[in-house]
Amino acid sequence: MSQLVLAVLISGSGSNLQAIIDAIEAGTLNARIACVLSNNPDAYGLQRATRHRLPVEIIDHRSYPSREQYDAELRRRLEAIAPDYIVLAGYMRILSAEFVRAFEHRILNIHPALLPAYKGLDTHQRALDNGETEHGVSIHLVTAELDDGPVLLQASYPIENGDSVADLRTRGQRLEHQMYPTVLRWISENKLIIDDHGQIHHDQTLLDNPLQFSA
Ligand code: GAR
Repeated sequence: MSQLVLAVLISGSGSNLQAIIDAIEAGTLNARIACVLSNNPDAYGLQRATRHRLPVEIIDHRSYPSREQYDAELRRRLEAIAPDYIVLAGYMRILSAEFVRAFEHRILNIHPALLPAYKGLDTHQRALDNGETEHGVSIHLVTAELDDGPVLLQASYPIENGDSVADLRTRGQRLEHQMYPTVLRWISENKLIIDDHGQIHHDQTLLDNPLQFSA
């Protein structure tokens, strides 16, 4: 069992970051957050990080003329940190293909939908608009295609009559806060292995379908 070195990227509230911090502090996740990085100087998650004495870095995307230039700076900072994994936790920017290539198979994302359904934004509203009866959360490897990489872990929950976007968000985030620490723990324990080809092995077996999380 080895200690994972993580860089956590956020844009907003950072409740998933908090769940990871809490798991580390509780001793249930053998990891170290080497840096919390935000594109948004006002992200509340930065306050959470500071409260827990974690190093923070802000790279305001509005100061960069292009995505490529922004991502080049992001890459430079992350290479200096050399994390085992880059954990996207509500990081609301699309990453350039070049950036993804530089950290291939080492970027994880959490997405509020049952991928491959509902890639992109406003997943809760779109699921309600389509009359879905089920929605969920996915943790996946990041590839150059948006929300398209192999899914490691999924959890689903029912949509009830009269549910609002806020209801779905609350239900989903309750799962998210358990799922991210769990996946990271499995990786640190080698129960889940992401190999050099981006293939996922669970308990030494090639994973061909996402693992299902139940709370
Ligand atoms: C999370 O619910 C996550 O699923 C979503 O942003 C939220 C961030 O919350 N991510 C995406 O929509 C990515 N496409 P947090 O800042 O409180 O962790």
